[in-house]
Amino acid sequence: VITMDKQNRKAIIAGNWKMNKTATEAKALISELIPAVKDAGCEVVICVPFTDLVTAVEMTKGTNIHVGAENVHFEKSGAFTGEISADMLTDLGVEYVVIGHSERRQYFAETNETVNKRTKAALAGGLKPIICVGEKLSEKQMGITEEIVCLQTKAALHGVSRTQLDEVVIAYEPIWAIGTGMTATPEDANQTIRAIRNAIRDVYGDVAQNIRILYGGSMNDKNARDLMAQSDIDGGLIGGASLVAEKFEKIVNYNR
Ligand code: 13P
Repeated sequence: VITMDKQNRKAIIAGNWKMNKTATEAKALISELIPAVKDAGCEVVICVPFTDLVTAVEMTKGTNIHVGAENVHFEKSGAFTGEISADMLTDLGVEYVVIGHSERRQYFAETNETVNKRTKAALAGGLKPIICVGEKLSEKQMGITEEIVCLQTKAALHGVSRTQLDEVVIAYEPIWAIGTGMTATPEDANQTIRAIRNAIRDVYGDVAQNIRILYGGSMNDKNARDLMAQSDIDGGLIGGASLVAEKFEKIVNYNR
């Protein structure tokens, strides 16, 4: 049953460029990525800085690369200097948006409540949110990983309808694994992702089987295959390794 469910969920390999690449540099990287990932069996997404979005959308038209932003504000418009709305993103042709990345929670005062507001604004505006959840090292050591990520997931999805849920992607990123070279074992990542899926099932029922839940945190060309072999891991959110075309290509083609 689990295998059938997994086959029904199209895998996503998404790059999260974070605060890297000028538009000029983005142009060079995307030129390399287009031929490198063109035969991928999974959905390929690149989430890029706001200043790279126009370049990314223009260059990837007619290719299999989908484009995402790295954040979105929750109001439609108004006096919010420095912020970007969902309409501004969809008007450019942006399809995905990362919400609640741990770096935003840690450095920019993002909370479960603002993550929920951004998620609802993204969905209302026609964007597919990639909602990030994950425990700190201290929380892992206390043995409360599942409680933490299930709470974050339920809070992010509060008020999201069953129909809207189809557009949602969750990314489980243990904070201690981000940028550290330490990956969760495939088994541990799978178990936590199963717990997240069960939390979604608590609220929405069996449609939880259709929701794609990704792993993120030092995922690379060496460990992607083992992670992707797990029953509930539907893809990856890749930081560092998404900035190098040859590495991202190998992750995207993890099946070969
Ligand atoms: P790294 O792949 O660099 O560990 O980053 C993971 C991440 O935070 C993706 O959003």
